[in-house]
Amino acid sequence: MSFNTLDSADLKGKRVLLRVDFNVPMENGVVTDRTRIHRVLPTIEEISAKGGKVILLAHFGRPKGERKEEDSLRPVAAALAETIKRPVAFADDCIGESAREAIETLADGDILLLENTRFHKGEEKNDPAFVAEVAKLGDVYVNEAFSAAHRAHATTEGLAHVLPAYAGRTMQAELQALTRALEHPEHPVMAVVGGAKISTKLELLGNLLRKVDALVIGGGMANTFLAAQGKPIGKSLCEHDLIDKARAILAEAKGADCEIVLPIDATVAQKFAAHAPSHIVAVDHVGENDMILDLGPKSVAHIESLLEKTRTLVWNGPLGAFELPPFDEGTNAVAQTAARLTCEGKLLSVAGGGDTVAALNQAHAAQEFTYLSTAGGAFLEWLEGKELPGVAALRT
Ligand code: 3PG
Ligand code: MG
Repeated sequence: MSFNTLDSADLKGKRVLLRVDFNVPMENGVVTDRTRIHRVLPTIEEISAKGGKVILLAHFGRPKGERKEEDSLRPVAAALAETIKRPVAFADDCIGESAREAIETLADGDILLLENTRFHKGEEKNDPAFVAEVAKLGDVYVNEAFSAAHRAHATTEGLAHVLPAYAGRTMQAELQALTRALEHPEHPVMAVVGGAKISTKLELLGNLLRKVDALVIGGGMANTFLAAQGKPIGKSLCEHDLIDKARAILAEAKGADCEIVLPIDATVAQKFAAHAPSHIVAVDHVGENDMILDLGPKSVAHIESLLEKTRTLVWNGPLGAFELPPFDEGTNAVAQTAARLTCEGKLLSVAGGGDTVAALNQAHAAQEFTYLSTAGGAFLEWLEGKELPGVAALRT
């Protein structure tokens, strides 16, 4: 890997600016999901154990350079302290006097969280003056925030150019998993792409079909492809203005020797609601009042038989309306098969982006995947083949 990792960092007595993604779900000032906190604990512990002063930098929400109480990171300091079972100090600004004073009182190994970096306009502007203000507070920079690495902001990108920069352990694991999955994968490679819309995933599909052997398309976005093939889709969600684009993607896949796998049957209903009366039809026979809400059993069996021969899987997006039972069955079945094959050592499986983690958790398959990314936008941009600025800045 062309990154410095913590293996080569001398941290004893150093002020370590550790950029994390603490943009966690919060309700009424209480953190409701600590996944992103759990992910960075090993790096915090390691820096602390090596005698570094852990100074956490993070953004929260989109306060656009204004100080907004509802976007304060103070509740996250409490959640972190509880999770790591150690005191976590908090400073109510990420630059200036209050930050400097809080850092001065730290002993080696102590942990401090600085207030939301996005309370300053310089953060999103990647303003060199702001970068310099933050850089003054540290000796070393460690980036642990893959999920914010698609932003070229002061604390996700700028700092890496002015301080000795290292990838944190989660960043390192994420980059290794993604490299194994798409840069240097073992073939055959399958991508599973689902979700409601193709409009947000056009670039991603274009990039993937050049890299993978099979591209499974499910969820609402598959309907636009079925329509492009002249299939009846009834009242299903469909992006009619993108039917030509869908046709072009199908043609490009042929040229690139990528097999596009679309549903061959579907679970349809006339209402978009949990437990709406439903039945299974071949995709040639969707009724005019039907809505396609999930894969049918033949589609599932076909994808599973392809998975048996697959060595590497990249997954983004649910294959049906997974939040409404029973329309989660297709997603659950394919996810569980991927989980089993991973456990049997036959498959390397990487998943991430948006609803994907929730869908795989619901399928009880998340734990078995080789790597599960908590990144949304960053994971998608990576699937699009883009170089993420936060990652690029870490390259040696
Ligand atoms: C995320 O939660 O996806 C990241 O923290 C990035 O947040 P942003 O989309 O507000 O930049
Ligand atoms: Mg986001």
